[in-house]
Amino acid sequence: MIRYAEGDALAEAAAILRAGGLVAMPTETVYGLAGDATNPLAVARIFEAKGRPRFNPLIAHVLGVEQARAHAILHPLAEKLAARFWPGPLTIVAPRRGESDVAELACAGLPTIALRAPAHPAARALLAQIAPLAAPSANRSGRISPTTAQHAAEELGGAVDLILDGGPCAVGLESTIVAIGADGAATLLRAGGIARADIEAMTGPLAAARAGAVDAPGMLQSHYAPRARLRLNATAPGEGEAYLGFAAFDHGPFNLSRRGDLAEAAANLYAMLRALDATGADVIAVAPLPHAGLGEAIADRLARAAAPRD
Ligand code: TXA
Ligand code: MG
Repeated sequence: MIRYAEGDALAEAAAILRAGGLVAMPTETVYGLAGDATNPLAVARIFEAKGRPRFNPLIAHVLGVEQARAHAILHPLAEKLAARFWPGPLTIVAPRRGESDVAELACAGLPTIALRAPAHPAARALLAQIAPLAAPSANRSGRISPTTAQHAAEELGGAVDLILDGGPCAVGLESTIVAIGADGAATLLRAGGIARADIEAMTGPLAAARAGAVDAPGMLQSHYAPRARLRLNATAPGEGEAYLGFAAFDHGPFNLSRRGDLAEAAANLYAMLRALDATGADVIAVAPLPHAGLGEAIADRLARAAAPRD
């Protein structure tokens, strides 16, 4: 079920995808649950496997901007962002082309499409054989995204035909999502693996997504959630609480980054939340973290993980 992402396994994965099957694939952000984006049955299986509401569209993964142009109308600003950040942890949402062969279901009927060119070599090797691939994070809807092949197996086990092991994800947080409208207006739909400032250096100030909008349902209030409840900005654990430290806020074995490095913290976040959840504690107390740079995306995920559940 889990195979190292090389040679024969990559060829087998491509064959599964061509036949409409699903493959968990490593990317530099998180593991994705990939299917042929042009095959409506494969796309339907993705929604099914994740227990994902059908109003929540999927990202179409491509090799690069040339493929992206076949599916979206890219304003010069979108072209500029792609040239700067692809392959990498940036997703661009742009008006969808009528002639795109991506299944309607993948875009949840929206007039736009989300596109990303991932950097992980295994993802690129797959995309060289079959593209575009629709791939949400390979977790059950609402839960923590997997950053290892083992975690993807725990989330989706039987619902996926093959899991490619490409090692732990280097970035560890989902891609930053930016919408670029037909007029070049730039909106931040999701903070992620590329810091806001790096994007704003090219776009100018990013507009904020409308609160609660279905523009980016990854913005749903409760999301990325472990079983345990989270208590944020905790300088120390309370009685019976597990603790997730950062820098000098250090109590017990779990610290996102003892040297206070936010990139290291991002890479550790989901695996440590899983490990803390597995201790059986009812509450995970989380150290304060700076909100600058990648801290914005980390704070966003922690806030959603801490949000009241239905
Ligand atoms: O890093 C990532 O982006 C990972 C890896 C696997 O590439 N993928 C990922 O996919 O995080 P997912 O499905 O978990 O999150 C995609 C987000 C969702 O919040 C979805 O609502 C949003 O992208 N999205 C997709 N298409 C959209 C569109 N046309 N307009 C607005 N938001 C869109
Ligand atoms: Mg997700």
